[in-house]
Amino acid sequence: MKKLNIGLVGYGFMGRAHSHAFRTVSKFFDAAYEPVLKAVCARDASKVKDFAAQWGWESVETDWKTLVKRKDVDLIDIASPNDTHAEIAIAAAKNGKMVFCEKPLGLNAAESEKIVKAVEKAGVPNMVWYNYRRLPAVTLAKQLVDEGKLGRIFHYRAKFLQDWTISKDLPQGGAGLWRLDVKVAGSGVTGDLLAHCIDTAMWLNGDIESVTGMTETFVKQRKHALTGKVEKVGIDDASAFLARFKNGSLATFESTRYARGHKALYTFEINGEHGSIAWDLENLHLLQYFDHRDEGATRGWRSIHITDSDHPYMKHWWVPGLQIGYEHSFIHQVADFLQGLETGKIPGPSFRDGLATDYVTDAVLSSAKSGKWVKVKQA
Ligand SMILES: NC(=O)c1ccc[n+]([C@@H]2O[C@H](COP(=O)([O-])OP(=O)(O)OC[C@H]3O[C@@H](n4cnc5c(N)ncnc54)[C@H](O)[C@@H]3O)[C@@H](O)[C@H]2O)c1
Repeated sequence: MKKLNIGLVGYGFMGRAHSHAFRTVSKFFDAAYEPVLKAVCARDASKVKDFAAQWGWESVETDWKTLVKRKDVDLIDIASPNDTHAEIAIAAAKNGKMVFCEKPLGLNAAESEKIVKAVEKAGVPNMVWYNYRRLPAVTLAKQLVDEGKLGRIFHYRAKFLQDWTISKDLPQGGAGLWRLDVKVAGSGVTGDLLAHCIDTAMWLNGDIESVTGMTETFVKQRKHALTGKVEKVGIDDASAFLARFKNGSLATFESTRYARGHKALYTFEINGEHGSIAWDLENLHLLQYFDHRDEGATRGWRSIHITDSDHPYMKHWWVPGLQIGYEHSFIHQVADFLQGLETGKIPGPSFRDGLATDYVTDAVLSSAKSGKWVKVKQA
């Protein structure tokens, strides 16, 4: 088996999810390449050493500039906050490395354009971690849509709801709270949560043509954890938008961190001429499917338990009836990439796909300011 040496940047939430995927993938999926946990990078030498020991990384770095130049690293995986993505990705590409990057690709589309230019100029394989595409129920939804089971699509409806920033005493900035600091995050829920919804939506239902949005920042000032000063909050706490897809269908998207009781409720529903599909992250192993052409008296919504070996990815896991979870989406993304290295067809979402999502989020934010419909730039 050929070795694929990974250099990871960041050991937080995603650093752990990615480490788990790289360690596990070859145990369940056959591929010509095996990921090797070569080096992990973060700024705190002692913490990064502990992380490396816990997860089995062979070595550590405290400066990503050194990591991207290492001859023994083939692929740089960026799992650090959004304001670090562009610089690291561009340097990695210039050094001829394959690059994985967490979402959103850049702080905004202008940054993402530069990242895309760098990887395409270098000709290096690249992927953004829009991992929800690879939950088996979501992949099955894609298959049903592509097979034409729903017929013409009329509606797409998505939301991503959380409730963890309601307290006005929560600071912004620094470890764990960088998402509230616009300089580090780029935007609030639009780039953080709606970006996931938009990526899935465009994967399932094609390009978005135009949007009109509204955003709100409910808590206007927060103490900054790094400066200790009370500073203006620059992120959007809530964001909702209407969209028109190129295929003529209409959509609504909503996201907030102020929906009391909801921790990570990502849902989507698609309505077509023959049928509908609905899915939610809290029951990620189920796909709801309605087919109008079913027999009259027993026609109704089917709740499909996505655990059979003929469901996407499931033949690699346990026996029918046993569910898998969130972390498996990351494993599947790596598995598909490894297969792509073998066949020469690198699967999406590519950085260009990530840019397409950033064009939509930029358009939503711009529309929220102007109050007008905005045409979405196409990647
Ligand atoms: N795909 C998903 O579902 C998903 C989920 C959560 C986060 N994310 C994305 O993943 C990225 C990281 O988010 P997270 O939740 O893991 O954050 P986190 O705060 O848990 O971890 C960030 C890590 O980056 C490190 N870091 C920060 N600056 C660095 C630098 N200059 N050099 C090296 N390391 C640095 C921090 O020390 C920390 O280890 C973000 O872009 C975020 O949007 C994606």
